[in-house]
Amino acid sequence: MNDKVTVVIMAAGLGTRMRSKKAKVLHEAGGDTLLNHVIRAAKQVAPPEQIIVVVGHQAETVKASVSLPGVRFAEQREQKGTGDAVRCAQSAVSVPEGRLLILNGDGPLVTSLTMQGLLGQSWKSEGGSIVITNMTDPTGYGRILRDSGGNVASIVEQKSATPEQVLIREVNPGVYSFNARHFWDHVHLIQPNAVTGEYYLTDMVEILASRGFPVSPHFVPDETELLGINTRLELSVADRLLRLRKATELMLAGVTMEKPETISVDMEVEVGQDTYLEPGVQLRGTSRVGSGCRIGSGAILRDCEVADGVAILPYVVAESAKIASGGSIGPFARLRAGTQTEQDIHIGNFVELKNTRFRRGAKAGHLAYLGDSDIGAETNIGAGTITCNFDGAQKHKTGIGEGAFIGSNSTLVAPVSIGNGAFIAAGSTVTKNVDADALAIGRAHQTEKPGWAKRRREANRSGK
Ligand code: UD1
Ligand code: MG
Repeated sequence: MNDKVTVVIMAAGLGTRMRSKKAKVLHEAGGDTLLNHVIRAAKQVAPPEQIIVVVGHQAETVKASVSLPGVRFAEQREQKGTGDAVRCAQSAVSVPEGRLLILNGDGPLVTSLTMQGLLGQSWKSEGGSIVITNMTDPTGYGRILRDSGGNVASIVEQKSATPEQVLIREVNPGVYSFNARHFWDHVHLIQPNAVTGEYYLTDMVEILASRGFPVSPHFVPDETELLGINTRLELSVADRLLRLRKATELMLAGVTMEKPETISVDMEVEVGQDTYLEPGVQLRGTSRVGSGCRIGSGAILRDCEVADGVAILPYVVAESAKIASGGSIGPFARLRAGTQTEQDIHIGNFVELKNTRFRRGAKAGHLAYLGDSDIGAETNIGAGTITCNFDGAQKHKTGIGEGAFIGSNSTLVAPVSIGNGAFIAAGSTVTKNVDADALAIGRAHQTEKPGWAKRRREANRSGK
């Protein structure tokens, strides 16, 4: 980290080629917006207060989408090109000297390592330095023209390139580091482009070089890191690359991933050693999974905390749930926001929990809805148990003590509480509190009419 570095991220464009109502930088790849990926790498080279994001299209939504606090914003009201975008950032700059790192908001794969390498190179050149790479398909990128000394003489955009220049595969991926003083002293010299009328940031290279401030190239061999996203097709490529990068990181840290190409893990997710991820798992948002867990096929966890040694069976869908160690959940269970389980619980198929504390060793093997409730340790919840937490207007709580037994198909009408060790007979509708160790039966008495069924059959047969 160097306090003489100011970062400007250009994120004001709409991104016409995305064919979307949403600004391009808000599109997601690898579980986060394009812009947040760029910021995540940039924060490794400059403090947040020295990162300026230029916003324009859907400015308020773009600002709200930024997850790093402290970042500054500058507004570009009219999108007059990348040169104009950086000029709009000038008033937000607090450190006018040092190096200016300029990044395209649509390049989500650039790593902080590349930024550091570029800055290192940039301090050695009067004008600065820019990343260059060889693209297998350079279509759409600005082509690099070198001077006799090997420095970058100028960048020519695809639309202005001659047929010979179009063949150049050495391109500008949109990662620049300029000498800040020289940059701000000369930025007003950018003229509108003859073809498009836009102000091109790329013109700064020629402007500085021609005034005796050469700009050197910083070659980065991995072209996939420098992909600019302009279409949905490129977005899907970026998504795949980001997820592959995350998967590689996890596997090298001791996570087993079966068919990793089918597993989606968002960038901020953490997974502990010796956890086994089966095919088709999705770990999203800020989820943290401990060590020695097994996450079954098709399980989707968003913003969840899972402690060590938990078995999540296939097709569990969980959101903002906290799972303590050692339990087993699923298959086909749903844990909604506010679910908190203690150690060694079992939640089986077709059980839904919402805003519910499920204490140590409790079990709900099948088919239950537990909402706004507190389920005591070692309590058994029978199949078909429903906590009726909503009366049509308000939500109410259900409390169940330790070691209780809730018989199958019990309907617990909240607010209601059931004491420790109580026993609810199967099929009961419970509307009143039940004391500890009591048996509650809340269902119609069974009556029996001897011979009734036989008489009915015989009557039907004789047509009477
Ligand atoms: C730009 C470069 C090109 C480079 C390519 C790499 C220029 C003139 N060209 O082209 O040399 O090879 O990136 O991906 O810079 N933006 C604004 N305000 C504007 C225009 C754009 O903030 O007025 C932002 C966009 O939101 C985007 C970034 O700048 O994040 C780049 O703009 P884009 O239109 O994608 O430029 P490219 O045509 O890809
Ligand atoms: Mg682009």
